[in-house]
Amino acid sequence: MTGNTKQMPKDGAFLPRDRNWQPPALAPAYKSSILRSPQQALLSLDNTLSEITGPVFGHSLLGRLDGDLIHNFARAGEAAIGERIIVHGKVLDEAGRPVPSVLLEVWQANAGGRYRHRNERYQASLDPNFGGCGRCITDEAGRYRFLTVKPGPYPWPNGPNDWRPSHIHFSLFGTGFAQRLITQMYFEGDPLIWRCPIVRSIPDRRAIEQLIALLDMENTIPMDARAYEFDIVLRGRRSTMFENRLEGN
Ligand SMILES: [Fe+2]
Repeated sequence: MTGNTKQMPKDGAFLPRDRNWQPPALAPAYKSSILRSPQQALLSLDNTLSEITGPVFGHSLLGRLDGDLIHNFARAGEAAIGERIIVHGKVLDEAGRPVPSVLLEVWQANAGGRYRHRNERYQASLDPNFGGCGRCITDEAGRYRFLTVKPGPYPWPNGPNDWRPSHIHFSLFGTGFAQRLITQMYFEGDPLIWRCPIVRSIPDRRAIEQLIALLDMENTIPMDARAYEFDIVLRGRRSTMFENRLEGN
């Protein structure tokens, strides 16, 4: 135990990705990975001063409705259509310590599986009261929380009939732009999770389960919204899978 502690990397050390746990960059059943994965050896680039030192996010920067996707795009007195849910959890480091002041940005499709984006081609209807974006900052205990509607699954042009499971995209900023991590959260009980080529590129079932938010009846608001709990581990051997850090973190 003592020996292991001595070998633990210091903060900031690079931890190569465990390929038994996290997916390879090239997973041909996930078609986009063929063009996105590196064809040559990686180069290491040092961060510039501005990447390391800024920006610093404060709660005062957030608007009152930034963490409320049900209302932050809706007309006054109206609300987004869909299953009302709370998504909450903690951001943790490799030792399980909470990480405060992390800016979380989320984006998602509406309840019918449609994104508000000019390149969106899915025929499901737009909800005039749903924008699909929100943000919040972790508190001193590393906790975050936002209110939204459960996104619908949507088809995507990968194989002949591939559907994305319901999911929410997460971006996490540390104290600088170079510290951005991006992942996706899924919902407990969704049968599409296990059919999704993106999910299936992850070799270890436990790494997939780490991306699935659990239904949390303790924190529901009765007669209003169900809760889902999703913790995010920033780094270490059991890091959450981040799609923009394929080499490790
Ligand atoms: Fe998506």
